[in-house]
Amino acid sequence: MDIFSPVRVGPLELPNRIVMAPMARARCNADNAANELVAEYYAQRASAGLVITEAGSVSPNSVSRANGAAIYREHHSAGWHIVADKVHGAGGRVFQQIYHLGRKADPSRMPGGAQPLSASAIAAKGQINGLNGMLPFAVPRALETAEIPGVVDEFRNAAELSKKAGMDGVELHGANGYLIDQFLRSGSNVRTDAYGGPIGNRARFLMEITDAAIAVFGRDRVGVRFAPHATADGIADADPVATFAYAAAALNERGIAYVHLIESIRPGLRQSPSADVPAVLPALRKAFTGPLIVNGGYDKAAANEAIASGLADLVAFAVPFISNPDLVERMAQDAPLNPADATTFYEGGAKGYTDYPSMRAKVSA
Ligand SMILES: Cc1cc2nc3c(=O)[nH]c(=O)nc-3n(C[C@H](O)[C@H](O)[C@H](O)COP(=O)(O)O)c2cc1C
Repeated sequence: MDIFSPVRVGPLELPNRIVMAPMARARCNADNAANELVAEYYAQRASAGLVITEAGSVSPNSVSRANGAAIYREHHSAGWHIVADKVHGAGGRVFQQIYHLGRKADPSRMPGGAQPLSASAIAAKGQINGLNGMLPFAVPRALETAEIPGVVDEFRNAAELSKKAGMDGVELHGANGYLIDQFLRSGSNVRTDAYGGPIGNRARFLMEITDAAIAVFGRDRVGVRFAPHATADGIADADPVATFAYAAAALNERGIAYVHLIESIRPGLRQSPSADVPAVLPALRKAFTGPLIVNGGYDKAAANEAIASGLADLVAFAVPFISNPDLVERMAQDAPLNPADATTFYEGGAKGYTDYPSMRAKVSA
């Protein structure tokens, strides 16, 4: 078995185990709706077993860079419909990633100058590129207990709009220090209500969102992404193995489509466990018996190794997919990969987005 072996995820039969990882590319319209260019980019990459879209904000309170993706109003859904149709037309399958930035929202873009929201009033570390240049992350306002069902409802609304857009499912972004992660981890959640304290409480927010998404899509069209080793912007947990094994076990009970684990967010590194943070993957593998996707610095050899060892079922690639629309074919042929230009990750229109050559284009040129 290797990355080219077919696999079933929920009701979908994937022709290979190569997943296009979610990546914000900031090519949406000014009103945060996806468009033809975004659809072309994803359709170019439809030979992936599964495409996962960039994170779409579920709320106006989850606001950051210009031209970022959102999925909370009808026109957003209409924009993502173009994407889903074009990926399906190219023979692919696509899940929409949905998220709330929480304390990592841009204070200079918050509606009515409101404070960003989080589990607790603890600021993320570092700075954000706001409307008038770099500024520190804001100290967020801790959500009142009574406000939490409203935020869960924003996720439900996003799932409904994704379904209406024709997406095959949703991925809940529980990684990289955003709102779900802020609730899960002890370093950003010091609540004393039913959403804070022991992990059973800290995971409650994610489980309520998962149940809301399941109510919309069915259990086998909902995935969840985690990044237990991520420390970006000061996200931290006292015991990542226990935290994420608990969450994975609770998701296992719900029988969701997959769990998606970022082992490392540093390209070139496959594992980032240190002396104090042991690898979470083995514990997660035990806790979750459904399809497990791993990601973070993988190449073909490492991906095949992960699948052959039984530690993972699928492998997601991010940066390699930016610059290689035909990554699947290149990997099949052991062809060289185009290098990615980081200066166009978040800007540049079609440049560095839809203009990376596929091998076929090169041959026929
Ligand atoms: C430009 C860019 C945008 C990203 N946006 C997202 C995102 O929207 N959601 C997410 O979960 N991860 C996001 N990531 C993280 C990637 O999905 C992935 O975890 C990371 O790049 C490591 O995978 P790789 O080594 O295959 O590139 C982003 C990464 C990059 C480079």
